[in-house]
Amino acid sequence: MDLREAIYTRRAVREYTAEPVSESVIRDLIDAAIQAPTAVNLQPCSFCVIRDKSVLATVSREAKAHMVKTTPVGLMSHHFNEVLNNPTFDIFYHAPVLILISTVAEIPWAIEDCSLAAENLMLAARAARLGSCWIGFAQGWLGTPDGKALLKLPTAYKPVAPIIVGHPKAAPPPVPRKEPEIRWIGA
Ligand SMILES: Cc1cc2nc3c(=O)[nH]c(=O)nc-3n(C[C@H](O)[C@H](O)[C@H](O)COP(=O)(O)O)c2cc1C
Repeated sequence: MDLREAIYTRRAVREYTAEPVSESVIRDLIDAAIQAPTAVNLQPCSFCVIRDKSVLATVSREAKAHMVKTTPVGLMSHHFNEVLNNPTFDIFYHAPVLILISTVAEIPWAIEDCSLAAENLMLAARAARLGSCWIGFAQGWLGTPDGKALLKLPTAYKPVAPIIVGHPKAAPPPVPRKEPEIRWIGA
């Protein structure tokens, strides 16, 4: 698949088959991720691969409770409120693997570096006919002392991009984009 097709057909995939993703494929995705540029070439991204279903279930449960507890009432949409309070809702959509990209936040531009790595990873997944989705719901709790302890993340690390990967059940329909706001300065 060429780059343009990967860019235009990547979707947030929220339904997966039970088929696992092999270690060599996961390593390929991480290898694609680390090809992204990093500020001052510091290469500050760290990857944690979680395939243990009980750990994923724990993170899902704790992350939902954390979101409910920490999101200001005015910012909690009806939809969010419903899914986060639904004990059967798995924030990871039963994907077989979660790849968490973390960094030391104090390193200049480290968050940007991890975000670029995340997009590379998601495009590489698409090119390998895999689905992926960035799960922002997981980020808050994973950054707590309990979340870091569960994943054995060093205390200085900040989780940036929790990305699920798996074999999609079906191809999600395209999601329309707004017209980009473009300000042209000069001819
Ligand atoms: C920072 C970030 C956080 C996201 N968090 C979630 C999430 O917690 N759950 C989810 O289902 N999708 C999440 N998404 C996926 C977006 O909802 C999705 O990318 C968007 O609706 C556009 O759809 P597309 O990726 O198929 O183009 C997140 C995406 C980004 C970039």
